[in-house]
Amino acid sequence: MADKVAVVTGSNKGIGFGIVRALCKRGIGNVYLTARNVQRGKEAIAILSKEGYKPLFYQLDVTDEQSVKSFAEHLKQNHAGLDILINNAAIATANFTETTYEDSVQVLNANYYSILTIQKYIFPLLKNNARVVNISSNCGHITNLKNTYWINRLTKDDINQEDIDAFVVWFLNSVKDGTLKEEDFQEMPLLAYRISKIAVCALTRLQQKEVERDISVNSLHPGFVKTDMVKTVGDLTIDEASDAPVYLALDIDQSVKGKYFWFDKTEKDWADTNAQNLYCPYALLERYLEESKEN
Ligand SMILES: NC(=O)c1ccc[n+]([C@@H]2O[C@H](COP(=O)([O-])OP(=O)(O)OC[C@H]3O[C@@H](n4cnc5c(N)ncnc54)[C@H](OP(=O)(O)O)[C@@H]3O)[C@@H](O)[C@H]2O)c1
Repeated sequence: MADKVAVVTGSNKGIGFGIVRALCKRGIGNVYLTARNVQRGKEAIAILSKEGYKPLFYQLDVTDEQSVKSFAEHLKQNHAGLDILINNAAIATANFTETTYEDSVQVLNANYYSILTIQKYIFPLLKNNARVVNISSNCGHITNLKNTYWINRLTKDDINQEDIDAFVVWFLNSVKDGTLKEEDFQEMPLLAYRISKIAVCALTRLQQKEVERDISVNSLHPGFVKTDMVKTVGDLTIDEASDAPVYLALDIDQSVKGKYFWFDKTEKDWADTNAQNLYCPYALLERYLEESKEN
């Protein structure tokens, strides 16, 4: 464990911060806490060092290709390779119920296109037997989508990069020209976020298919977690929510590949259109937000 190298994107707070702490606790010798903002990153490092942990720090904005490239160079120069990569950084729109084009572009850049940039520069550094965990959401389960053309195209066995990119572009263009149709989706709130996480789950399966060497790539819904993203309402603490990602990064058998997991460590069938209990009901978040206002 002491010589292992792990990277967690967007880990100055929230679930990513919890994952860094948990990986340090498990004795991983080189855990990179990364943050787009140096000050926020260093403050997070200071909290963990007071607790007796010694994560490493590197500035990383996942939407900035130069930043990803420079981090990859740093890793190459300082380590023999990477054992664990947790793609955690993401954003949601501040307004959960409105879908604007500008917001949608930002969400897709941060949550989906960023993972392609990381794949380009950081995947080549993954060691044989490395593990990649893409943090998705229940907003990423296929049941969030109702359009049968896209369901079929995203869930087919021989999916390729063009299929996922075309899905994302279809969504962005529909928002831009005002042609979004409600019947194509299970629900309209958090729509850009849902699209980004559906794309992340589809990409996970594709990355697994295409990656050479014995690397495992899985995606995960971390649960409804009390973080800034959901205005600090939720069911789980960041420490509870880090259990499942750490399980995928360290404990599950290496043969488990290209799957979709739930926060309770159970595997779910991402492509099962009948699993209507796996999509993200906005009403639940709305109820928690209402209750938090009353208290
Ligand atoms: N909370 C939930 O209930 C929930 C449910 C399902 C899935 N998730 C997923 O869990 C993951 C973690 O979310 P969270 O709830 O912990 O959210 P959070 O508290 O808002 O943390 C998000 C982290 O991502 C970072 N980030 C955003 N854009 C970035 C960029 N361009 N480059 C680098 N870092 C960036 C943020 O940095 P700044 O501090 O600089 O903004 C922050 O550190 C996300 O993938 C999210 O979609 C969360």
